[in-house]
Amino acid sequence: MALFRKSKNSEPDFSQIVLPSHIGIIMDGNGRWAKKRGLPRKAGHTAGAKTFRKITRYCSDIGIKYLTVYAFSTENWKRPSDEVNSLMNLFKSYLEEALEDFKDDSIVVRFIGDKSKFSDGLRSLMLENEESSKDRDGMVLNIAMNYGSRDEIVSAVRNISADVKNNIISIQDINENLISNYLYTSGQPDPDLIIRPSGEYRISNFLLWQSAYTEFVIMNKLWPDFEKSDLDEALKIYSSRNRRYGGV
Ligand code: IPE
Ligand code: IPE
Ligand code: MG
Repeated sequence: MALFRKSKNSEPDFSQIVLPSHIGIIMDGNGRWAKKRGLPRKAGHTAGAKTFRKITRYCSDIGIKYLTVYAFSTENWKRPSDEVNSLMNLFKSYLEEALEDFKDDSIVVRFIGDKSKFSDGLRSLMLENEESSKDRDGMVLNIAMNYGSRDEIVSAVRNISADVKNNIISIQDINENLISNYLYTSGQPDPDLIIRPSGEYRISNFLLWQSAYTEFVIMNKLWPDFEKSDLDEALKIYSSRNRRYGGV
């Protein structure tokens, strides 16, 4: 595993590294990667999907418990229809083939986001993947598709209101913990680390509630160029941070 490979010069002591239990990744930069090579954006998404596979495996290998990857936002529907269509086709082929691979690693696959906007075929593949992996005991992989954090919060508020109206809960029951439990990530710890490749310094509607005390690492590599060693680098940066949560 690359994380434990010693560098020739400095020999960093990786045994001292504090591993995050939950990592979020904003898989960004596919379009720019393709443009740099004179290729259609679609080619960037295909290359990005390969990186997704490699980095997901690696996270599972090194003992990460939860990985949340941002694959398609509620705002990404604004893109030209040929790009959206090629992304949907890519998702389909991934759900048919590549996710099978995660079986060997005992990965639990979950989709976070509003599934209702996808085609029936894609939605049933998503449900099939969730169902067939739910009893595994490995890393939980949340794939954020048609995910928007504001949309997630709106739907939580609606569901909480409905439960108050139907006397399932009372207004006094509403607290931070209860709100967390109405989100897609219910029952999971908040992300400790969010990595954004491609050098953009923004959150783009990803895990707004959950990232209240998350550490951010922005990296300049475009997602299709992202290597295991880049993840190691992000882990080292994370490990050196002093998380105070408002304390001293
Ligand atoms: C991320 O790469 C993939 C999706 C948002 C679906 P982009 O397509 O945003 O790539 P850039 O940011 O244009 O380079
Ligand atoms: C965020 O990237 C969404 C995903 C990576 C899926 P975008 O490329 O959509 O974000 P902006 O437009 O740069 O904020
Ligand atoms: Mg982008």
